[in-house]
Amino acid sequence: MIQFRPTPKLDKGATLIFVSRGPLSESLSRIASKSTRDQIQNAAKDSGFQGDNGELFPLLLSRRIVLLAGTGKKEEFRLAPFRKAVRNAITSPFLKKTADIEILPHDLGDDVVRTILEGFLLGTYAWKKYLAPDKANPDSAAKKIYLAVPEKRIYRETIAICESTNLTRDLINENADVTDSVYLEKTIRQIVRGRKKVSIQVLNRRDMKAKGLKLHLAVNQGSPKEPKLIIVRYKGAGDKQPYTALVGKGMTYDTGGLNLKPTGHMETMRCDMSGAAAVIGTLKATLALGLKKNVLFAVALAENAIGPDAYKPGDVFTGYAGKSVEIGNTDAEGRLVLADAMSYVIKNYKPARIIDIATLTGACVIALGYDYSGLVCSDDDFARQIIRASNETDDRVWRLPSYPELKDYVKSPIADLKNTGLAQGAAGAITAAEFLRQFTENLPWAHLDIAGTAFAGGKGPLHFSHGATGAGVRVLTEYLRTS
Ligand code: BES
Ligand code: MN
Ligand code: ZN
Repeated sequence: MIQFRPTPKLDKGATLIFVSRGPLSESLSRIASKSTRDQIQNAAKDSGFQGDNGELFPLLLSRRIVLLAGTGKKEEFRLAPFRKAVRNAITSPFLKKTADIEILPHDLGDDVVRTILEGFLLGTYAWKKYLAPDKANPDSAAKKIYLAVPEKRIYRETIAICESTNLTRDLINENADVTDSVYLEKTIRQIVRGRKKVSIQVLNRRDMKAKGLKLHLAVNQGSPKEPKLIIVRYKGAGDKQPYTALVGKGMTYDTGGLNLKPTGHMETMRCDMSGAAAVIGTLKATLALGLKKNVLFAVALAENAIGPDAYKPGDVFTGYAGKSVEIGNTDAEGRLVLADAMSYVIKNYKPARIIDIATLTGACVIALGYDYSGLVCSDDDFARQIIRASNETDDRVWRLPSYPELKDYVKSPIADLKNTGLAQGAAGAITAAEFLRQFTENLPWAHLDIAGTAFAGGKGPLHFSHGATGAGVRVLTEYLRTS
């Protein structure tokens, strides 16, 4: 819970005061009582506290905790380390057991305040459902935060975006057999329930058979679970305004299929619906912000399982777009469900542009690691807009090339296309993207490969807790908000 208050009161169990390096009096100037300011200042001086980024100094004042947290020199201030400093202060031993914390920012700029909100809401998120409750480490999310700044709409929006991001993370972290296609359909229906401007279409196995989404069906052949293509149409703007389509890969589990993944590569594959989960989180944020845009939110849900019915390497299937595909590898399944989903959305909903988001390739993890999602884009202006949204939110993307000659790498001697690229996975991220491009009908198209960023928790400098990060929600929401 977060409340705003225009002036600091130092009346809660603890007060967390952020300070820049330099004269402490500046950072404390919003505290009304001179004697309080003097006590804090003297204690800090005695201890040698400087205000360096990450430096913490606790003191007791009238039996309440006051924690000074340094943010470094003003001219060297950067948001990403600050987000981490916020997280570290709130989870530090000094505040761990305090249920109600007042926070005084060192600066009232929107960026700083929003980063505090993110540091708290995103930084202290942890997936604890299957852990015994730990009294020594109470859940940070249960804390009451009193932010000593005047309330603004943009702060409320930041909170909504963080909550949407954390929903995405919950969906990913949960067991694959819990967040299956039926569960995800329920989640979407709950999000849109009672909302105007929203309509929903769900294609199940029968509908897919009738309509010819045979690539999607092939991937799901070995699974008893229902494959689903769910499309939410959000009409936040006028009839004449173009639609942006978001299409998420929703492999609720990816065993690799008959080209079975080896031990060490399968354990995290409940994350293979992270693209769909990011689209669902972006839908929730879009509704919360009431964006005045027309958007299609599509999720392609399937399970890549093994069994006697599983699709087989060497099979050929013809998808919704009428193109035949040779299955070079059953583990390259994401591009198959996305191909049908994109074709279906383009033909039936006529979007002006399309963005797909997917944990698509291990090659993208090799290329970029855990901090940057891969971006492949058919159009320079479109790419620039997405990169701008990425810079704005620090939900990082880096562009990879797309060029005409790539199409030769997804050719097959026995079908129109093949779902694998070069030998040994060379250029695996961009050949996978090239396969998808074949299904975009030359619309402006952007592809986000979040294989490295979606489930990197704890690995990179940007991610704090184990497991899902919610990668994609912030950049997509910002893109929709501003373009
Ligand atoms: N879901 C995986 C990609 C992945 C890898 C996601 C690591 C998250 C972390 C995808 O379906 C896959 O298996 N891709 C193959 C494609 C290959 C067989 C052409 C890969 O990247 O190895
Ligand atoms: Mn796979
Ligand atoms: Zn996959």
